[in-house]
Amino acid sequence: MPGPKTPSRAAPREIPKKMSNPAEELRTVEAAWSQVAERYEKYWSPRLRPYVHEALGAFAPPTQGPLLVAGCGPGEELELLARRFPGRPIVGTDLSPAMVALARRRVKEAGLASVLVDRDDAALSSSRLNQGAGVFSSFILQLLPDPVAALEAWTRVLRTGGCLLALFWPRADDASPVARLQRILREAGLGREDDWEPRAIETLCAHGLDLRADRRLEFEMAHASPKEFWNELVESGPLQAAARRSDKETLDLAGKRWLEDHGLERRGAEWVHRPAARLWVFERNVEPLSEEGH
Ligand SMILES: C[S@@+](CC[C@H](N)C(=O)[O-])C[C@H]1O[C@@H](n2cnc3c(N)ncnc32)[C@H](O)[C@@H]1O
Repeated sequence: MPGPKTPSRAAPREIPKKMSNPAEELRTVEAAWSQVAERYEKYWSPRLRPYVHEALGAFAPPTQGPLLVAGCGPGEELELLARRFPGRPIVGTDLSPAMVALARRRVKEAGLASVLVDRDDAALSSSRLNQGAGVFSSFILQLLPDPVAALEAWTRVLRTGGCLLALFWPRADDASPVARLQRILREAGLGREDDWEPRAIETLCAHGLDLRADRRLEFEMAHASPKEFWNELVESGPLQAAARRSDKETLDLAGKRWLEDHGLERRGAEWVHRPAARLWVFERNVEPLSEEGH
């Protein structure tokens, strides 16, 4: 008689995911980003700067009306926006109190009186603005549990002609280091499964927005080693939330698998790649419906 089946070594592992409700999930995300905030600012902000600069050049809100910056992190984009649109009321929000503190400090030190920073869930921040000229979101959309719902909420703050800009890491299916990482994280039960991007475009167009730009932005990013890249994802980046949701063994195994076949290129003392971000610029072409829908 054959004994009970033991999983073959090559079979994909069933990863036990910790169950969590939305409120618990939000607390996990908040705690994760608060833990990494200072290190994120040091390691990731300079690496993301060229993307944010390029996005800023594509952001063209009407001349009147406040701006919303959802998921502003340590506030780099707040400062850039405030300098580009002097005196314009800007509201920056972030879920993490530590990020909010960093952003407030930055805004204060830069003497930017037109910028207000507050703690809020990105998906709810739209209630803070009326007749907004623009919404700017940088590298937050792909982290949200329901990116399409967040985009829909942001459209509601926009006046006619208002500009909604989303810069984010899209789902990658090529042989790039990031695509390899996403695949391994999905297989480990730590990555997002849904392909929300086509649905997002359809939904926003149905809400009366026009897609003015859909671009792929690539810049070179360097790390001291593949191991450093992985460690920073966990210790100062988006994988800190995954580390809190899953067990250590699962995350370590995913890291080991990626490090065995990471795809980064060696150049001198550095390891480089050109991660591709996606940039959407939408413009509202019709007057938003009132709360009552008429
Ligand atoms: C990758 S960082 C991006 C920060 C900044 N926008 C940038 O481009 O450097 C993601 C930010 O989103 C925030 N965040 C994550 N989930 C959020 C949510 N549901 N609502 C608001 N902010 C959130 C995190 O606290 C973190 O500051």
